[in-house]
Amino acid sequence: MARIELKNIKKKFWRGVAVKDFSLEIADGELCVLAGPSGCGKTTVLRIIAGLTNPTEGQVLIDGEDVTDMPAKARDVAMVFQNFALYPHMKVYDNLAFGLKMRKMPAELITMRVQETAEMLGITEMLEKWPRELSGGEKQRVAVGRAIVRKPKLFLFDEPFSNLDEKLRVKMRYEIKNIHEHLKNTILYVTHDQTEAMMLGDRICLMKEGTAVQMAAPMGLYNQPANIFAAGFFGFPPMKLLKAGILKEDGVYFISMDTLKLRLPDNMKEKIAPYENSGVIFGVRAEDILLKDEYTKKIEGNSVNASVIIVEPMGPESHVHINTGNNTFIMRAKQKDPADAVKPGQQIDIVFDMDKILLFDPKTEKAL
Ligand SMILES: Nc1ncnc2c1ncn2[C@@H]1O[C@H](COP(=O)(O)OP(=O)(O)O)[C@@H](O)[C@H]1O
Ligand SMILES: [Mg+2]
Repeated sequence: MARIELKNIKKKFWRGVAVKDFSLEIADGELCVLAGPSGCGKTTVLRIIAGLTNPTEGQVLIDGEDVTDMPAKARDVAMVFQNFALYPHMKVYDNLAFGLKMRKMPAELITMRVQETAEMLGITEMLEKWPRELSGGEKQRVAVGRAIVRKPKLFLFDEPFSNLDEKLRVKMRYEIKNIHEHLKNTILYVTHDQTEAMMLGDRICLMKEGTAVQMAAPMGLYNQPANIFAAGFFGFPPMKLLKAGILKEDGVYFISMDTLKLRLPDNMKEKIAPYENSGVIFGVRAEDILLKDEYTKKIEGNSVNASVIIVEPMGPESHVHINTGNNTFIMRAKQKDPADAVKPGQQIDIVFDMDKILLFDPKTEKAL
C-alpha cells in the first residue's frame, strides 16, 4: 500500500520541457488514471515515480518519505509497459517466479504466490507453456502477473493494453479493476484513451503539454470540465463548441450564435454579466439537445426548428446530425425514443437543455 505525492515536478530534456510544475497526490489504495494525448508527458511522470529517470526539479514522496534520489530498486514499485517483454527462455511459471526468486523468497511461498496470481488472471493452464506459445493477450496477462506477483506497494501501468484488439482491451480493463477490488493496491494507470480513463479511474488526472489540467472523478470531468481542453477530451460525440455573443433584453440574458438565440437560465446571470461585450464559448453535449415532445415539456423555451441531415445508427442509440441556421449539431437519440425515428430531410423542433450547457471564457478557455 502506498500514498504518492508529486510536488512541482519538472523534467527538462535537451529538446525541451516534458513536464512542467506537475503536482499530484494519490491516496493509498486508489486507482488513479493519468490521461492525456500522446506526447503530453505521461510516461515521463511514470518513469519519475518508478525511479527510472530523475526529475530536473521537484520531489517524489512515497508514504511521506522523500524518494526523489532513491534508486528504482529500493522503491518497491512495479511497472508494466506497453512494450512488455517476457523472458523467452523461461516458461510462464518461471517468468512469474523470477522476481520472487531474485528476492530470495522461500520456495513454498513462491509456489503459493505464483498459483494465486495465475488464478486471479486465469492463466493457470498456461504455467507450463513457453512465451512463444501464447497469444498477445495471454502474454500481456503474464506481464501483468509478473508485476502483481511481487505484491509491490505501487503499480504503474503505461498503456499496457494498447497493442491488443478492442475486445481484449475491454477484458483486460475489467481484470485490472477486479485485481484492484481484490488487492486494494495503489495503481497509477496511464492512457491516452478517454474511454479507458473513464472506465478505470477512481479519479482521473488529465494532462496537457506537461501540466495537470484537471483532477477529478470520471463523471466530474465529464459534467464539470475545467476548460475547453477537458470538455473536448471526454465524450463521444465530442462536445459541440461555438463562439457566441451575449445579449441582454429586459434584464434577461440570451446567447446568440448566428440565427440561433437561446435564453440563458436566470441563475447564470452573475457568471455571464462580465461577458456581455466580449462573448463566450458555448458548449453543448449531444445528449442535451432533445426532440421537442412530451418528454421535453418540462424544459421551457429554447425550442428551435432544425432539419435532419444524416442519422448514424450506433446500436443502443443513434447520432442525429441536425442543422439550424448556419450551425450543425449532433443529437444523441436513444433507441425507442421518438428522436430515433427521425429521417434525413425531416424538419423537427428541438430543445436545448440550458441547465446542462457549458460556457467558457474565450481568452483563458476556462469554464465560467
Ligand atoms: N529520453 C528523452 N529524451 C528527450 N525527449 C524525451 C525523452 N523522453 C520523452 N521525451 C519528450 O518528452 C515529451 C513527453 O514524452 P512522454 O512522457 O513519452 O509522453 P506520453 O507518454 O504522454 O506520450 C515528448 O515531447 C517526448 O518527445
Ligand atoms: Mg507514453
